[in-house]
Amino acid sequence: MGDNSGKVCIFICALLIGGAILIAVLVGTSLKKLATGEVGIKYDTFQKDLGTETLREGLHQGPPGYEFIIFPSTYKSLTFDDLECLNKDGVKISLDVTYQYKVKSSKLRAVIIHFRNVDGYTNVLRNAGRSALHESCSYFNTSQFQAERAIFQEKVQEQIELRYEELHAIITDLQVSNIDRPSEYESAIRSKERAREDIQVANNERPRLLTEATTKQREAETQAKIIIDKAESDARILANKAHTEAQAIIAQYEKESEAYKQIVDATGLAFSIEGFISYLGVRVIADATNPVYIGLDSPAKTVYP
Ligand SMILES: *[C@@H]1O[C@H](CO)[C@@H](O)[C@H](O)[C@H]1NC(C)=O
Repeated sequence: MGDNSGKVCIFICALLIGGAILIAVLVGTSLKKLATGEVGIKYDTFQKDLGTETLREGLHQGPPGYEFIIFPSTYKSLTFDDLECLNKDGVKISLDVTYQYKVKSSKLRAVIIHFRNVDGYTNVLRNAGRSALHESCSYFNTSQFQAERAIFQEKVQEQIELRYEELHAIITDLQVSNIDRPSEYESAIRSKERAREDIQVANNERPRLLTEATTKQREAETQAKIIIDKAESDARILANKAHTEAQAIIAQYEKESEAYKQIVDATGLAFSIEGFISYLGVRVIADATNPVYIGLDSPAKTVYP
């Protein structure tokens, strides 16, 4: 009897302890915690059943052995370093872009159904972001990348928001920094700008050079006129001089003929022709500076006593 009651007691005790352990295990596996900054949906791993409600931080009870599929409820950062894309001109552009994103809690169930968990989701968001950046690049030409950076950033934001809307994510704090063009393009731009400056300088010089050239032309014209005037005046002087000399010679011959007339004229000295020639001969010899040899008959005797 004592033996029996002892056995019953042990059996009941074991049953109670076993029950307590079972209850502890069941409670333990059906109570799960979400930390600060987390949202999640219950997932019954045995029934393969996804809950419908997005739960926030705290202890939550569910079917034994359930787990939470957890997503961050705060913004996370996504960064693209040296992302290369082609712009409208087909020139390669390198970009640094960073922004904050988070899932819309109200759409968490749809997100989990499509993308499984936070890793799959993040991967898709990254790819969608990259695709948005490539598309944004293709809307801008090279000079716009230089001049319209703020507008480009707006375009990037718009493109990412468009894609993330479908993926139930929101973004904030987008920043595009460090837009680089390839170095050979930079140097081409620089030499183009130098050429533009050179043209500007040449254009500025032009009026000065024109004035200089005009002045030189005027000087040359004036000089030519002076030379022509001088030549004309020289010619006039020479002509005058020649004329005067001619007049003088004519006058001299006239005087001489006058004198000879006196010599041969009956009212004058009344020389005979022979006497006159003899007189001329004497004058020629007298005027000559060198010895003169002439074959004349001896002069006619003028007067012989
Ligand atoms: C770039 O685009 C702007 C605006 O559309 C345009 O005015 C400019 O001429 C373009 N530049 C080149 C080099 O195509």
